[in-house]
Amino acid sequence: MKRIAVLTSGGDAPGMNAAIRAVVRTGIDRGWEVFGVRQGFAGLIAGVMEPFTLRDVGGILQRGGTILGSARCPEFHSPAGRRTALHHLGERGIEALVVIGGNGSQTGAHQLSQMGFPVVGVASTIDNDLVGSDITIGVDTALNIALEAIDRLKTTASSHQRAFLVEVMGRDSGYLALMAGIAGGAEAVVIPELETDPATVAAELRAAYERGKAHALVVVAEGAKYNAEAMAAHFRDHKEELGFDLRVTTLGHVQRGGAPGAFDRILATRLAAGATAALARGERGSLVGHIRGEVTTTPLTEVVGKKKPLDLHLLELANVLAK
Ligand code: F6P
Repeated sequence: MKRIAVLTSGGDAPGMNAAIRAVVRTGIDRGWEVFGVRQGFAGLIAGVMEPFTLRDVGGILQRGGTILGSARCPEFHSPAGRRTALHHLGERGIEALVVIGGNGSQTGAHQLSQMGFPVVGVASTIDNDLVGSDITIGVDTALNIALEAIDRLKTTASSHQRAFLVEVMGRDSGYLALMAGIAGGAEAVVIPELETDPATVAAELRAAYERGKAHALVVVAEGAKYNAEAMAAHFRDHKEELGFDLRVTTLGHVQRGGAPGAFDRILATRLAAGATAALARGERGSLVGHIRGEVTTTPLTEVVGKKKPLDLHLLELANVLAK
């Protein structure tokens, strides 16, 4: 192999730059040329890519976001879009592609792989919902950002004896909410995997006050049926009977921004180095992930169209600890 390309796709995740750096430097170390593709699959379709040198990826390890840019690209799901992408790769003599991203991105990687082009994915999403990796790039940093917000909210909640709700991201996965709830000591956690109605949450918050707590905090996943908006509406409509109201904070994209922590820098570096190693071994059509502490590869056929299940025992644990 002489030439490979790397792109970042879908929602950015803290640590993507460390992954780009590791693909470029380990690729060059193997004697390859490494092209960086701009704006994910959109850049592949538009043919926007250029060779990267060792110095081009200097000083990026500690930066959030992705220096390559990212995009959500519905055009790539059409065969015509993918044929255009393959044409641009072929024009430059690029023989393999590394796709750094989450579920949607790995679906694109798989589709390209099924057309016969060598592709290896790197597991990167703050949602941690990807089959083939116990933990994905960006999760740890996003979780720490959510925790900083929760810790701050708890101090003001205690001062005023108020109930607070924090909504975290995760699309249709409750992983971030559940972990933030456990690590932040929430009184209640609401996730998409298990429907919880607002009346139950209100009862849990009231019970916390009755146990003598000065604050009551609920962490809600954005994908839950009763997310921040739905929960806030219920509390507003039932204010009289509940006897207290709820202050709502939606963290949103704040969780995806900022510098990656040590864990994500190291994870991203190991997975990306694993991607060039997999290509060097002749592996294609697989996802590089982290399973039981090891860098592993899983066929993309076993990854796409699935969602990693959440360990619901941890929700029971969160409820016990909330007491
Ligand atoms: O997949 C990562 C993620 O941040 C999800 O948690 C969230 O639902 C989604 O991306 C938001 O997407 P966008 O940045 O396109 O609004």
